[in-house]
Amino acid sequence: MCGIVGYVGTDHSVEVLLGGLRRLEYRGYDSAGVAVIGIDGALRTRKHAGKLQILVDDLDETAMPNGSTGIGHTRWATHGGPTDENAHPHLGDGGKLALIHNGIIENFAELKAELLADHPETVFTSETDSEVAAHLVGYAFRETHDVTEALRSVVAKLHGAFTLLAMHQDQPGTVVGARRNSPLVIGLGDGENFLGSDVAAFVEHTRRAMAIGQDQLVTITADSITVTDFDGNPVDSEEFEITWDAAAAEKGGWSSFMAKEISEEPEAIANTLLGRSVDGEVRLPELEDDDERLAGIERIVILGCGTASYSGMLGKYAIEKWARIPVEVELSHEFRYRDPVLDAKTLVISISQSGETMDTLMAVQYAKKAGAHTISVCNTQGATIARESDAVIYTHAGPEVAVASTKAFVAQVAALYLFGLHLARVRGTLDPAESAGLLEELKAVPEQLATVLEQHDRIRELAHWMADSRAVLFLGRHVGFPVALEGALKLKELAYIHAEGFAAAELKHGPIALIEPGQPVFVIVPSPRGKGSLHPKVVSNIQEIKARGARVLVIAEAGDAAVLPYADEVFTIPLASTMFEPMLAVAPLQIFAMELAAAKGLDVDQPRNLAKSVTVE
Ligand code: F6R
Repeated sequence: MCGIVGYVGTDHSVEVLLGGLRRLEYRGYDSAGVAVIGIDGALRTRKHAGKLQILVDDLDETAMPNGSTGIGHTRWATHGGPTDENAHPHLGDGGKLALIHNGIIENFAELKAELLADHPETVFTSETDSEVAAHLVGYAFRETHDVTEALRSVVAKLHGAFTLLAMHQDQPGTVVGARRNSPLVIGLGDGENFLGSDVAAFVEHTRRAMAIGQDQLVTITADSITVTDFDGNPVDSEEFEITWDAAAAEKGGWSSFMAKEISEEPEAIANTLLGRSVDGEVRLPELEDDDERLAGIERIVILGCGTASYSGMLGKYAIEKWARIPVEVELSHEFRYRDPVLDAKTLVISISQSGETMDTLMAVQYAKKAGAHTISVCNTQGATIARESDAVIYTHAGPEVAVASTKAFVAQVAALYLFGLHLARVRGTLDPAESAGLLEELKAVPEQLATVLEQHDRIRELAHWMADSRAVLFLGRHVGFPVALEGALKLKELAYIHAEGFAAAELKHGPIALIEPGQPVFVIVPSPRGKGSLHPKVVSNIQEIKARGARVLVIAEAGDAAVLPYADEVFTIPLASTMFEPMLAVAPLQIFAMELAAAKGLDVDQPRNLAKSVTVE
């Protein structure tokens, strides 16, 4: 996820671009850059690793004269770490063309090889997939002498997700954009026009905007806007009015970053899956050279803290089932200080959204020293844990700003499932057809999850109604158990309500004594379908608590009639195989905790006593 802004208008594009980037910084903040065609007619770029302010401090009017045409980018690294070289814009046509990109170009390696065969003189200065597009558009411009036509000819070759903006020194006053599976909107000004990843990029200049559809191209000048499809056919776009103020726009109109991030969960999973399978087989390019090593491992230890440890529990269920290898899950801090048994046949997988959690970092360093092979699942490119591990599987959830982890959790589960299928292929433990079927189901999750999120209003009502609750319990079995733990953690940290997650069958071994009339209990109910389903057992557990007066709030498969007689509220998830249910069932619990905290007037993005990145042990 990156932030993109484009401008054509009067000679103050630098200010417009920097203002836009500041508002888009929530989309990525590991590097930033701008390109401007100055009043002297020359195209210049400035870009830097680090926060936007580093770029701002480096810009001066003498070195970079202002101009009326420009593009700017704030980056969340995917291909290539956060360095000056990998920051955007990237240049083509001998430095006369500048291009910025949000997304992942899946076939960049093939395109790069083709390009080098046709133009061996091309010099690549970054490790990014985006630079390939910059050179391709640059060469195409030499033929077409028109940025729109040049970009059109290139997007036809790209696979994956992208928003691209390009401009050329020989065509000042024009910026061209293209999008597929990645956002781009137009801002309509008076004698000036804008492009942005979202309206936050230009809301301080205009309230008039236009959406651009999938697979469409837009060309802006100071007083014209032309939208076409990728084949060049004109497309009608509807204008709309931006009703958010500038501050709300950063959150995409959502009341909080957390609400926005929950809404981004389908995209977080889809982006994490992107480019990681070929012909029904999972391929993790980052583990390309590890097959022999992975085939020889005898045991896996998964490490993480808080929410990350719960995604690790789900990883255990999947990896053990699919790759038939013993997996343990442990809290990083507990693991580190108990003299654990480790050797070269042990694989240690650490999970961390921030990649900076000190407890997990210490555990990874310890495991490495003890001779274990280490892989991290991380959401932040170039983070310390990623750098210290032997290999890293990045989740592509985009920046998570709210302290409570939401979209990173589902992306971690998706990454661990990909790893499980990858390992199963390497170890030959899954029939290829079964593996392809599981991959298809995993790919269907984003769309299914989007339908679960539609229940937001009903969940808000329930949360408001329950704002005075003093304690809430969460029950689940098998893969429903980590979901119960996560539901309880969310409620504790956001709404400051005592909450506990239990394995449903454990209740009768003690905690059932907590149940008294009116006690709210969420229950994650597995699908009734399928051989060996735990559904009947969970329904029995529900009966046990219902008989003692519990108020039963159920997350169940749509159409599950057996739970209805015992449920006071039902939230539904679509039909999915057991392993995929957690990614669907967790969202209602996240929304519930957030809305209950909001009903209590609490700050859901920054709960008390917490920090986004815990860098102390
Ligand atoms: C809970 C939450 C925390 C983090 C934990 C690990 O909502 O966000 O429990 O999951 O502090 O953080 P990372 O994933 O950055 O290592």
